[in-house]
Amino acid sequence: MGRKKFVVGNWKMNGSIEENQSLFDGLLSAKGVESVDIAVCVPSPYFFQARGALSGTAISWGAQNVSEQDSGAYTGEISAKMLVDLGAEIGLVGHSERRSMFGESSGLVGKKAMKLIEFGISPVVCVGETLDHRKSKKTLEVMSSQLKAVIEQIGLENLGNIVLAYEPVWAIGTGLTASPEQAQEVHSHLRQQVRLLDVEASRELRILYGGSVKPDNAEALFGQEDVDGGLIGGASLNLIDFLTICRAAVNATTH
Ligand code: PGA
Repeated sequence: MGRKKFVVGNWKMNGSIEENQSLFDGLLSAKGVESVDIAVCVPSPYFFQARGALSGTAISWGAQNVSEQDSGAYTGEISAKMLVDLGAEIGLVGHSERRSMFGESSGLVGKKAMKLIEFGISPVVCVGETLDHRKSKKTLEVMSSQLKAVIEQIGLENLGNIVLAYEPVWAIGTGLTASPEQAQEVHSHLRQQVRLLDVEASRELRILYGGSVKPDNAEALFGQEDVDGGLIGGASLNLIDFLTICRAAVNATTH
């Protein structure tokens, strides 16, 4: 059995009760997408709404960030324990917006991933190079070092508990997308790095691509051997676009 494709919407700081509800309703009534896993990462004020709409359904939901701490005097933070309490199933860690705007290091990202694992939530660990890295041909080196820093925190025994997301920083929200070949090169490199540590985990590891995935480029990206789905920002806010991307994952599975 191959890896099941996974499409994750990252709503970022967008949404309202009304808009969210129509996205949830649309996702829940979609047909023909049963063969892929689908999740949405919603802003924290809407966790309760996501729980009410999605718990017990085929669509999972999760957070966009989590604290590396258990509990205590950390104003504004959200703990993994709270996420479990609410029924979240996944959590993004290390999104490039967190790394660049909030100064999160790969070490911290690894600690956050470990905290989610401790509480039984799947971390979607984001890695990605900047345009400068790519221009100076450092992409694969940067990928190895971001991945290594995370594995140092979670340990080899947890390699089977994570999802990776390759998100080239230069492609996020810019309308620029990695070509299917560029994505495949990095995904295969990431899988190879994991393979050196654990062959079985490397076979099962799902590696998502993120960065301006749209209805018209999704199928070509998802058709690459090591691209197991997508992390979708802007296009996840539009029901038709997001479902078209989910269907592209279905098509890429069957072809
Ligand atoms: P984008 O965002 O699809 O809007 O480029 C992707 C992401 O940041 O996860």
